[in-house]
Amino acid sequence: MQPKPVKDSQTTITELMIPSYANFGGKIHGGILLSLMDKVAYATASKHAGTYCVTVSVDKVEFLQPVEVGELVSLKASVNYVGRTSLIVGIRVEAQNVKTGIIKHTNSCFFTMVAKDDNNKPTEVPALILESNEDVKRFIESMRLKDIKQKVREEMDDAKSNMEVSNAAEILKNERCVIRFI
Ligand SMILES: CC(C)(COP(=O)(O)OP(=O)(O)OC[C@H]1O[C@@H](n2cnc3c(N)ncnc32)[C@H](O)[C@@H]1OP(=O)(O)O)[C@@H](O)C(=O)NCCC(=O)NCCS
Repeated sequence: MQPKPVKDSQTTITELMIPSYANFGGKIHGGILLSLMDKVAYATASKHAGTYCVTVSVDKVEFLQPVEVGELVSLKASVNYVGRTSLIVGIRVEAQNVKTGIIKHTNSCFFTMVAKDDNNKPTEVPALILESNEDVKRFIESMRLKDIKQKVREEMDDAKSNMEVSNAAEILKNERCVIRFI
């Protein structure tokens, strides 16, 4: 299987934010943006893999700035990292006000995708050719993200199995909750 350069699968989706995408506050629903992120992640991952891909996990999605009706949202995606069957796709989301031309960076996030064969089994993906310092930086950053996630998973499993509810009153004394068993 021949390695492929990052640029061969880079994908941008641009979509106009129409009124039916808005919530009661007049801003674009987070779910609409998530759906666009999932689409661009799929397009990017499957172009690199040459197969169908599934979304396994989503990291660092934060809606820090609202997106308005009438803005043009662009999602720029690249394969940042490949494992054996998995790929990490980095997505930069920008919203442009067409009248003023002002572009705001609303979010950067990471989608982990896995390539599947015709029997729905994970299948190997081509290695990634890194052609710039940026490509190298993103690959290493994604390796670290993978390591950190693995450690967090292990710590959460450990914390769950050792969870003590007998001293909950002490643990929760400064939290905004009330224990009222029924
Ligand atoms: C994710 C999935 C493919 C893992 O299948 P599996 O039989 O456990 O396969 P493996 O253990 O061989 O893992 C395959 C790859 O997924 C990665 N992976 C598995 N679980 C993961 C997780 N929680 N987070 C990140 N990567 C994960 C593994 O590291 C491996 O990557 P690698 O080959 O690059 O090392 C499988 O659980 C699946 O199909 N899930 C449903 C996905 C889906 O339908 N998504 C749509 C949204 S609902």
